[in-house]
Amino acid sequence: MRRKLLMGNWKMHKTVAEARAFAEALGRMSGRLPADVDLVLCPPYTALHPLRVILPAAVRLGAQNAHEAPHGAFTGEVSVPMLQELGVQYILAGHSERRQMFGDTDERVREKVRAIAEAELIPVLCVGENLEERRSGRTYEVVRRQVDIGLSALGPDAVKTAVVAYEPVWAIGTGQAATAADAQDVIGRIRMWIRDSHGAEAADGVRILYGGSVKPDNIAQFTAQPDIDGALVGGASLDPESFVAMAQAVAQGGA
Ligand code: PGA
Repeated sequence: MRRKLLMGNWKMHKTVAEARAFAEALGRMSGRLPADVDLVLCPPYTALHPLRVILPAAVRLGAQNAHEAPHGAFTGEVSVPMLQELGVQYILAGHSERRQMFGDTDERVREKVRAIAEAELIPVLCVGENLEERRSGRTYEVVRRQVDIGLSALGPDAVKTAVVAYEPVWAIGTGQAATAADAQDVIGRIRMWIRDSHGAEAADGVRILYGGSVKPDNIAQFTAQPDIDGALVGGASLDPESFVAMAQAVAQGGA
């Protein structure tokens, strides 16, 4: 049985002071956090350490990106061991904003996923088609390529504990979420493709999330789908009330 997972991706939002205020508010509501859902927040790097100290224990830390090398002359980058030292347990790889704006290719993303898994942290491989790819009927082809290459450095055991987030680019930050049926269709196929390449145990264990304009009032329709194990949420994860409401909706929908 796969545990449900709710991840908040803060992107480039919140100073340390703002992150602390969020964590304190969440602390006051911690009695409402469900025990049967894994909860993860991915703040900017600068807020990782302050959050580790004050976040409720039920909420784990994630990072939004990492460099694939352990150290070196890579000005401005942060490595997996550096994040691990701060208590980070999950790391996103290949978020569409990284792919579009910072040149993360499928091959680069594969190396990031490899580095994260080798450190025994959980890679969260982000995949998804853009509007033009969807309109031209290439969704399956694009997503399959991203999944195949992104996971290709991992053995079946590492795939089983990894996370994949399906985030159609046109749904991110637009208020225009995919329908639950469309998300289930693509995510069901992702699980099938993983079965083809990595075997049944990996496919049954890997958790696959939906992301793109998820909010408290639509999250349960996604997590009620048979292959959708949770959500990766941007904008709606910035407010503590909304984060708790989504956690509760996932717990109820996933029971
Ligand atoms: P959104 O972002 O929830 O604000 O659409 C999702 C994401 O980019 O992970």
